[in-house]
Amino acid sequence: MTDTIAPHGGKLVNCVSQADENPEFLKYLGTLVRVPLNEREHSDFELIAIGALSPLDGFMTEGEHKSVVNDMRLPNGLVWSIPVNLATDTATGDKIKLNHDVALTDATGAIVGLMRVTSKYASNWEEESQKVNLTTDEKHPGTAYIKNRKPVLIGGPIQLLHMRKPEFPSRTRSPEETRALFRELGWKTVVAFQTRNPIHRAHEFLTKCALELVDGLLIHPLVGETKSDDIPAPVRMRCYEALVEKYYPKDRVALTVLPAAMRYAGPREAIHHALMRKNYGCTHFIVGRDHAGVGNYYGTYDAQKMFDRFKPEEIGITPMKFEHTFWHTGLKEMVSNKTSPGPKEAHLALSGTKVREMLASGQDLPPEFTRPEVSKILMEFYRGK
Ligand code: ADX
Repeated sequence: MTDTIAPHGGKLVNCVSQADENPEFLKYLGTLVRVPLNEREHSDFELIAIGALSPLDGFMTEGEHKSVVNDMRLPNGLVWSIPVNLATDTATGDKIKLNHDVALTDATGAIVGLMRVTSKYASNWEEESQKVNLTTDEKHPGTAYIKNRKPVLIGGPIQLLHMRKPEFPSRTRSPEETRALFRELGWKTVVAFQTRNPIHRAHEFLTKCALELVDGLLIHPLVGETKSDDIPAPVRMRCYEALVEKYYPKDRVALTVLPAAMRYAGPREAIHHALMRKNYGCTHFIVGRDHAGVGNYYGTYDAQKMFDRFKPEEIGITPMKFEHTFWHTGLKEMVSNKTSPGPKEAHLALSGTKVREMLASGQDLPPEFTRPEVSKILMEFYRGK
């Protein structure tokens, strides 16, 4: 069976090389300018290497960066919504010569790969933040990141020599591996569910409605860097596993992770999330209310509308758009703005703040909001804090 959906740009990128212990090569590595990767850059580096960001085969050059920021396209016209950058300080930037390799290092200073630098340029944080995040307000975590980033951006093709140990080994699959899994399971159509939260009843409802229309569901939580008040990935993983165990059909659901950092770029990040899942072999992608949003920077359905700016074949993966969903206390079932007979007072709504307060004070979350197994895990986490 062939894959139903091609990777973005046609083929999966692979920049993973076997670590070369040859003394000549090690000597060569020792001569290179070293560029440290921060957590976000390191996750982007590994995602590029395994093809999750296909067709990117490196960090963005100035041409790519400008084209993406201004037009949401790569210079060859392919849709791409989020800049993928590597930044360094001025002193290091001055040492880097174009068309030479640099050694990329991890948080301990160890070399994890190489980049052939073909472009060196200055970052214009205001323009980038305004166009990508739609705000220059530093309270926006994505904007704060761009503003505080080191000043010199470098781009060019990468080569990964050492992959980090995954945080969730049994739940880690590369795009090539999820594609193989779907073939093995005979799933021709697969819907991906992106999340950075525990799965509550609304999320569960969306995923099950979506699964009614396709062969399989990939629960694909983002487990890279998130903002400090988001629930840590290991706690969320326990919630996902408890849910999959009891509330989902095992032969129709896969649970693997996306080791990417959140940008909180709302509409633009929704496109980015979808394109990554296309690379993982998914044919459909769930987009609900305020996808990848934070605070009040984006309209409830702006992320959904963003997909309408492109021709469906330019994106390739099909968005499945869902209205705001919630529990209806009268009907005693999940409904959405589209299916609720009203009245509004019958809609169970809990803010994130209220949920945190309840958990911290040892109150169970209502089962209409969150399954009891999830509530228990979250309560343990908040009480331990
Ligand atoms: S996100 O940053 O990954 O988008 P979250 O984990 O909260 O945040 O959401 C995962 C997906 O579920 C997104 O597509 C989001 O739009 C959708 N979603 C979350 N809550 C609801 C809800 N109550 N109704 C409809 N869609 C929702």
